[in-house]
Amino acid sequence: MFIRVPKGTQDILPEDISKWYYIEGMIKEILSKYGYKEIRTPFFEYTELFVRGIGESTDIVTKEMFTFPDRKGRSLTLRPEGTAPVVRAYLEDSMGRTSKVIKLFYLGPMFRCEKPQAGRFRQFNQFGIEIIGTKSPAADAEVIITVLAIYKKLGLKNLEILINSVGCKKCRVDYVQKLKKYLTNKKDFLCSECKERYTKNPLRVLDCKKDSCKKIIESAPVITENLCQECKSHFAQVKSCLDDQKIIFRENPRLVRGLDYYTKTAFEIISGGLGAQNAIGGGGRYDDLVEELGGKPTPAVGFAAGIERMIITIDQQKIEWPAEKRLDVFVAKIDKKNNDTAFRLLQKIRNTGFSADMDYSEGSLKSQMRIANKMGVRYTVIVGEEELSKNMVILRNMKTKEQKEVRIDNLINELTS
Ligand code: HAM
Repeated sequence: MFIRVPKGTQDILPEDISKWYYIEGMIKEILSKYGYKEIRTPFFEYTELFVRGIGESTDIVTKEMFTFPDRKGRSLTLRPEGTAPVVRAYLEDSMGRTSKVIKLFYLGPMFRCEKPQAGRFRQFNQFGIEIIGTKSPAADAEVIITVLAIYKKLGLKNLEILINSVGCKKCRVDYVQKLKKYLTNKKDFLCSECKERYTKNPLRVLDCKKDSCKKIIESAPVITENLCQECKSHFAQVKSCLDDQKIIFRENPRLVRGLDYYTKTAFEIISGGLGAQNAIGGGGRYDDLVEELGGKPTPAVGFAAGIERMIITIDQQKIEWPAEKRLDVFVAKIDKKNNDTAFRLLQKIRNTGFSADMDYSEGSLKSQMRIANKMGVRYTVIVGEEELSKNMVILRNMKTKEQKEVRIDNLINELTS
């Protein structure tokens, strides 16, 4: 029996790769125009980074990390997200020294040991952006605007932006107390995980997806009514920046997101067609994370989106993918005797800048023509004994199906004309 791909992972096959090139290319093009620089961090980090960064009592840290020891027994974890690694690199490479505000982006695989389902994988790809070093509400709006620009360029429609403020260290303490008080006599009706969350991190109860807990949460006090003056004013300014740019959003005072590092703004972008896993992306401000990971207090804000979910949405919305790039030329030979000449000609054609290929099996001319047709090349060059004796080859225009004999030393000119 052959070995299958691990549960929750998938191959990206050659027939789908052009979708990935297209999306990744678009992301890189827009982000570089908006002033973001790419950063590539390792696929694994010391486990402690995520425990401290994401939060000990989050689902990601308690249930979803792929953790393993290295040969010396230090605990490593496949990165479940990109923000904590980017902040680690920001600190390790003293990026704050060269510039006060740093704008970074990343693209690549993340790993979470979740129960696989439509749109939810154990290895998935994210693109993310992080602005480190500014507390300006305009930066929060810029993150949202940037991501929407990417979605728009890809043609995505019917996306909903949900936004909230989860307050800061100061005002959250009071809110958490109020929430705890509200939950006290309802504790017995919470799910077993939320009973634990009630003690360890009550805010996480707001993120529970179980119906019984959701019902209890419905009437819980809301965080936006308990914000301090600074958080209130920050939130109002973010919303005003978005209004100014005519960006339609919906406030959702129960949005807390699955990571503990958020402060003030938290937001999510959802796509109706995705079913239960409807978040196409999410992010927010994380003003305490840099300090939490050993740096000086440094405000920051960012966002990440799942690329698989973007592809699913594009397909569901029947948005057309750009036509796949095809090769210019296929070199075929009438007889295997002409292999060497065909090979040499192929290299010459490639060296002049055309994209070209040949078939290395010893198939008949008919089967080579079938391959050329399937590849959708513009021209096929046919190398045969009779023509070679006159220093010529046959050039077939695959669209018009016209073919003519051309001199080898004039072939490149013929291809260009
Ligand atoms: P997150 O909400 O955990 O945020 O993930 C962002 C996006 O990644 C989700 O909205 C979803 O599209 C995709 N995603 C997450 N888990 C899976 C999965 N198992 N399968 C497929 N797609 C998935 C973060 O990761 C934060 N680091 C975002 C951020 C950046 N906040 C500030 N800066």
